[in-house]
Amino acid sequence: MMKTMLTLTLAALLSTAALTVLAAEPSVARGKKLFNDPALGGSTNPMSCNTCHQDGKGMEKAGAREDLATMINTCIIQALQGKQLDEQSPEMQSLQLYIRSVGK
Ligand code: HEC
Repeated sequence: MMKTMLTLTLAALLSTAALTVLAAEPSVARGKKLFNDPALGGSTNPMSCNTCHQDGKGMEKAGAREDLATMINTCIIQALQGKQLDEQSPEMQSLQLYIRSVGK
């Protein structure tokens, strides 16, 4: 009985850990969601990236830029009136994956 409960508790803990890892994993889908999120970077106005770059149109070449993360942060700060993202964060990685995906 005790053993079963321990096993179940352990299984629950492990699956929670797995879900947390999965949720932090950068992806195109997550990038697209963030691109359309008016709250990105703690944005203090109602705009999202998509307000000016609809479905990433016109950004087909942006994915190849060396300074892509800097450009993204510039737009977060100046256009969204938010705070810059850590370049290593899953959010920034996901936004880059999404922008690169529209160039393909
Ligand atoms: C208020 C309008 C506006 C919003 C909102 C906005 N941008 Fe921009 N963005 C611009 C302008 C203007 C430029 C410079 C002209 C251009 O390249 O389209 C630009 C340029 C860029 C570029 C470089 C494009 C290229 O072709 O090299 C990237 C990447 C970019 N923005 C990403 C974003 C992301 C990510 C967001 C959301 C965090 C965002 N932008 C929100 C107006 C905006």
